[in-house]
Amino acid sequence: MDITWPLSDGRVSIRPFGDGDAAAFLEYWQLPECQEYTSHTVATLEEARAFLSERTARTDVVMGALTIDGQVVGDIGGRRYRPETLGPDPHGWDFYLGYTVRPDRWGQGIASSAVALLTPALHHDGGIRRVVAKAFSRNQASIRVLLKNGFELEGTERAAVLGRDGTWLDDCTLAHLDPRFAVSH
Ligand SMILES: CC(C)(COP(=O)(O)OP(=O)(O)OC[C@H]1O[C@@H](n2cnc3c(N)ncnc32)[C@H](O)[C@@H]1OP(=O)(O)O)[C@@H](O)C(=O)NCCC(=O)NCCS
Repeated sequence: MDITWPLSDGRVSIRPFGDGDAAAFLEYWQLPECQEYTSHTVATLEEARAFLSERTARTDVVMGALTIDGQVVGDIGGRRYRPETLGPDPHGWDFYLGYTVRPDRWGQGIASSAVALLTPALHHDGGIRRVVAKAFSRNQASIRVLLKNGFELEGTERAAVLGRDGTWLDDCTLAHLDPRFAVSH
C-alpha cells in the first residue's frame, strides 16, 4: 500500500517489519497476554519468520513494527478489502486494523500513538475509506485506544466468539470513517 514510511511522532515510529525482526516479534507475540484475543499465534522463531514474511510480501497487508529508540515494542497493521456494494464499483478500500504492544510497555500510550499515526495515513495515502477494528468488550484498553482516536462504536455482537478460556465473548465493531465519505442521516 502507498504509505510513506516511517511514520513518527518523535517518540513512537512505525516502519515495515524486516527480516531481522522475527526474534523481537516472537518475544512478545508468544506471551499468553498477547495471544488472549488473537486467533493466530506463533510459538517458534521459524513460525515468526514465516508469519512475518507472508505478511510483508502481500500488497493488501500492512505489517508495521512499532519502535521506540530503535527497539521493536509492538506491531500495528491489517488488511485492506473491498467494501460491500449493491452493484456499482466502490473504487476505494476498507481496512481491518489490529495492533499489539509488548506487555512490559503497556500503559505508556504506545498503542494510542500508533493508531493516531496510522489511521490518517491509511485515509490519506492508502486510499482507505473505513478503518475497522474489532475488539472484545472485555478488552477495554483496546476500546479506549480506539475511542480516544475518534473511532466510533458501531455495534456489539453478543456472545459471538468463543474465547481461549472457554467463555463466550462480546465482539465490538469500531470504525473510523474518512470524513470525505461521511453520510448524514
Ligand atoms: C490493547 C493494547 C494494544 C493497549 O496498548 P497500550 O500501549 O498499553 O495502550 P495505551 O497505553 O495507548 O492506552 C491504553 C488505554 O486504555 C486504558 N486502560 C488500560 N486498561 C484498562 C482497563 N482494564 N479498562 C479500561 N481502560 C483501560 C488506559 O488507561 C489507557 O487510556 P488513557 O490513555 O485514557 O488512560 C495492549 O494491551 C495489547 O497489546 N494487548 C494485547 C493485544 C490486543 O489486545 N490487541 C488489540 C486487539 S483488538
